[in-house]
Amino acid sequence: MSAAAIDTGTPLLEVQNVSRFFGSVIALKDISMSVHAGEVMCLLGDNGAGKSTLIKIFAGVHPPSEGRYLVEGKEVQFGSPRDALAAGIATVYQDLAMIPLMSISRNFFLGSEPSSGWGPFRRFDVDAADRISRDELSKMGIHVRDTGQAVGTLSGGERQSVAIARAVYFGAKVLILDEPTAALGVKEAGVVLRYIAQARARGLGVVFITHNVHHAYPIADRFTILNRGRSYGTFAKSETSREEVVRMMAGGEELEELGLELEEFARADAASGARLSPVAAEADAAILRAGRELEADRLPTSDSVS
Ligand SMILES: Nc1ncnc2c1ncn2[C@@H]1O[C@H](COP(=O)(O)OP(=O)(O)OP(=O)(O)O)[C@@H](O)[C@H]1O
Ligand SMILES: [Mg+2]
Repeated sequence: MSAAAIDTGTPLLEVQNVSRFFGSVIALKDISMSVHAGEVMCLLGDNGAGKSTLIKIFAGVHPPSEGRYLVEGKEVQFGSPRDALAAGIATVYQDLAMIPLMSISRNFFLGSEPSSGWGPFRRFDVDAADRISRDELSKMGIHVRDTGQAVGTLSGGERQSVAIARAVYFGAKVLILDEPTAALGVKEAGVVLRYIAQARARGLGVVFITHNVHHAYPIADRFTILNRGRSYGTFAKSETSREEVVRMMAGGEELEELGLELEEFARADAASGARLSPVAAEADAAILRAGRELEADRLPTSDSVS
């Protein structure tokens, strides 16, 4: 999918110059980004970059302090997550809001009491729930032995997959995933990435939040990189290498600072004649090596990143 093809048409979801303040804390400043149908937009950034705050704005948890939020070209002011859900914006949080002791099918229908066209059921019909959840899961290539099985017995990847299938079934147009692969091993993360690709193939717009570039890169069409509440910009995969993304995310200067900081510690220890335990000394040495490697990694290429 080319970036040019993605960029045409009204975005499903868009923020323009959005900021969010919590008292004196500037969690986000002047962020603009958009998601189109059939596109995976990766929101990348280190801890505290503002990723969760941005998706909470999308999800109707926080109103923006400044800027505009548009859904399908129309400005919106969501009063609650329910408003966002009714507009077709489904958010899967990292902790998933699933109940481990309840069955897959129960969880599949959890929180989807009918309102504004979300879900056809007014009563809980166990047979229908079992059938529908099994069908929907298998449409996405997820085969569960028994939808009566407790969600707590599923693996992390399977749980995420159920949450994604559920959002797709209930007619989400935009699927927002906050760090869905963070706690997963490589194989499990692969499973989740596959379902993200399936949601995209079904025409959903996906916002995929992660700080793992290696999970983001294979699946993303575009990236928006956040760093301490500000955006480094949005890049199409076709015009950015994985290495460049890694560098932008980490912030080149910070890596250099980290290297210098670690050397400073080592010097101070040496000067004070501190006798470190062998374990602490080895840990120090390892950190120092890593710091130097980071610096060395960065230096030869710093010219190529403007
Ligand atoms: N409700 C709040 N009140 C005060 N400060 C907040 C609030 N929510 C977020 N922040 C601050 O905003 C900044 C961005 O936080 P946010 O949770 O959005 O980061 P993140 O990119 O999701 O980080 P992580 O990768 O650790 O999840 C942080 O400095 C955080 O302390
Ligand atoms: Mg977060």
